Order: sequence, then structure tokens, then C-alpha cells
Amino acid sequence: MATTILKTSSLIEKDRACIWHPFTQMHTARPPIAIVRAKGLYLYSEEGLSYLDAISSWWVNLHGHAHPYIVQKIKSQAELLEHVIFADFTHPPAVELASRLLSILPGAMSKIFYSDNGSTAVEVALKIALQYWHNQKKSKTKIICIKNSYHGDTFGAMSAAGRNEFNRPFWKHLFDVESIDPPIKGREEASLSQLHSILNQGNVACFIFEPLVLGSGGMIMYPPDGLNQLIQYCQQHDVLTIADEVMTGFGRTGTLFACQQLTVQPDIICLSKGLTGGFLPLGATVCTEEIFNAFLGNNLEQAFLHGHSYTANPIACSSALASLDLLLDIGCSRQREMIEIHHKFFCQQWCLHPKLKRCECLGTILALEYQAESSSYFQSIRDRLYHFFLNKGILLRPLGNVLYILPPYCIQPSELKLIYDNIILTLEGDL
Ligand SMILES: Cc1ncc(COP(=O)(O)O)c(C=O)c1O
Repeated sequence: MATTILKTSSLIEKDRACIWHPFTQMHTARPPIAIVRAKGLYLYSEEGLSYLDAISSWWVNLHGHAHPYIVQKIKSQAELLEHVIFADFTHPPAVELASRLLSILPGAMSKIFYSDNGSTAVEVALKIALQYWHNQKKSKTKIICIKNSYHGDTFGAMSAAGRNEFNRPFWKHLFDVESIDPPIKGREEASLSQLHSILNQGNVACFIFEPLVLGSGGMIMYPPDGLNQLIQYCQQHDVLTIADEVMTGFGRTGTLFACQQLTVQPDIICLSKGLTGGFLPLGATVCTEEIFNAFLGNNLEQAFLHGHSYTANPIACSSALASLDLLLDIGCSRQREMIEIHHKFFCQQWCLHPKLKRCECLGTILALEYQAESSSYFQSIRDRLYHFFLNKGILLRPLGNVLYILPPYCIQPSELKLIYDNIILTLEGDL
């Protein structure tokens, strides 16, 4: 026991000496939890504690940690080909993954451009949309986004979400975008008319949105109808539409992709996070043949001059192929249905609780908004909830006063019940 504690504290001390963690105030943050292994739904700390990963480790894990099938595929690929430059070269996992993704994606998607995370998948989408018009010598440069959305932390992705508290230090350097309200139930007309007036001013290149759920913006869910009309308006005005499915992709919302719940389809889709099942970083930006064709020509200027060192990493692509095998298995879709049924039942029972402003679910995502003095991310209820659940061995990471469950699909009913029971304690107790 004594040696374990010594080892733990030395790891944390070493971490403190050399590591700067994301989204963390390093001055006041508690020491990080040292995780040394993980299996299925659980993360295991060096101290011998376990944590139920109810947020899929920042929404990436689909089938549970260290899934042996994915591990095996990664091992085999690493022994065969670990990486190769992807300009002028190709390899089997990239080709197979692209063709399999195209066969399951909604709409008339035709080509895949790989990158290595969600922000880069969005950067690529925005640059493709802007250059699409540039190549045709059309002056269309404006970008429209949804208020309260999030598309990543690189400059283009930050800009595309509009100015907010998280990107305040960079406001002067962000490019301008137009924003509209999310088409949440009952407020669709407002977003439609906002979009209409922006479109009427002309010069719009694209409209980017998170389909059906604004993730980091507070797991705000909205039905497909309003979004269908927004996309239609864009199409009528010759404006490209970009669905950022970085969070919603790969089964989170009940369908494989959130866009499958729409009647009209976007021109570009961004994927990452669950793409590799949560093992390795990979991004993909998918577009129609028409968009791809606008980049063809006899000169390099017409081409898309963008790339990342680890574009289409073969091990990451193999991980994605293995994850797809598991995702498309009937067992996995049954698990997703089971999660959805349990979430719905929980919502029905608790949505009217006086401590809650909102309780809603979509597919495998459950979101609860607690009554609070404000909905800012920076508030005390967030920390109280976070530590309450951590102390119970459950990793939930509220977005301000919004608590959400977004679990790996291997979760069992008893584990869902454990999470719900603890949520009920926060509602009925004096947290
Ligand atoms: C909808 C959406 N787009 C893009 C991103 C950025 O992805 P990454 O963190 O891999 O850069 C995120 C991350 O949370 C996201 O939720």
C-alpha cells in the first residue's frame, strides 16, 4: 500500500513539473487523477480506485476501453505499416475506411479528406467551402453559424463558433461570422428569419451547424424540422451546408449519424472523436462529388493545398475499421436502443423536478440542466456536481449547470441505474 501511494504521488509530482493540462487552471486545479489502465466502462487509477467513464473520455470511446478486437487490429497494423506520407502515397486501411464510411454516410457523399482531430476536420470543411467558391471566381466569403455552438479550438474552428467567453483573448484575431439562434422547438421561426435576412444580404459561402445537439454549448437538443428548413433555405440560395458530426457521429443520437434524421442532407460532413472507437486521433471531412470537382484543374492553385503530417495514419484507420465492425453489429445497436429506452424512462420520471430547468435525451445522450443563478460554464454548481460524482467513482463532467451522460455503448442497465440513482441523490439531497 505504502509503495502504491509513493508511486502515485511521484507520478502526480512529475506531472506537475512538466505538464500543462487542457481546459485547466493550473494554479488552482486539484492534482490530476493518475489513470494507469482501463477496461470496458472503467478507468483504474494508480491508487487502485476505479471510475465509471460516463462521458466516454470526452465523447470519443464507443465500445469500452481497451476493447480486445480493436487492440488486436491496431497491433497487426502497427507491425505491417505504422505510417506513411499521404501525399502521392496511399494504403489499404485508408482506402477501405473511406469506402466503408461513404457506404454508410447519409446524402450523396463522394470523397473523404483525412486529418487528425475534430478541429482540423472543421478547418478542412471551412477551407473547402471557401475555396469552392474562390475556384469558381465567385465572391462568397461569409460563414453562418449557430449561436452557442462549438467546433474546436483552432482559429478557424473558434471563429466559426462566434465570439464567446472561451475565446475572448483571441477576439481580435477571429474572423467575422454571422450567427443565428438554434432552431429549438417552438423557436424555429426566429432562426429561419435570421437566416433569411443574412442570406438576402448575399455573399454567403456556407452554413455550419452541429446537427440536433449543441454539444459543448450545453447539450442543447433541437428537433430536425427547423434544421431541415434552414438547410433548404441555404440550398435555395446556393450556400454550402456543413454538418459538424464530430460529437454526434457514430450512433450517439440514435441513428448512426444525426443527419440521417433529416430529410435534406448537407454538402459536407465533419467526423472525428468516435471515428476510431476512441483509440487514436483521426479526422475526416466528407464532401459531395460536385464540391470535389471544383478543385480539379491543370494547375496546383486550384487544388486543396492542405495536409497534416499524420493524415490518414494507417493504425488510426485500422482502429476505425475495427470500431466500424463493432458499431454495425446488431449487438451494438441493441445496446444503443437499451440506453435510449433507459434515458427516456428517466426523463419521464424526473423532467418536472423543481431543481431541474431541463431534462431531455436524444439517443444515448441524456442532459439535465439544473436551476442555477446563471448558465455560465464558470459556476460553482459545476464543480460541486463534478466532485460529487467523482467521489462516487463516476466520471461525469458537467458543462456549467448542465450534467449529461454520454456513455460507451457497452454500459449495462445496472451501471445506468447506478448513475441515475446518484443523479437522484443530487436532486433529492441538498447538493
Ligand atoms: C461538435 C464538435 N466539433 C469539433 C470539436 C473539436 O474536436 P477536437 O477536440 O478533436 O479538436 C468538438 C470537440 O468537442 C465538437 O464537439
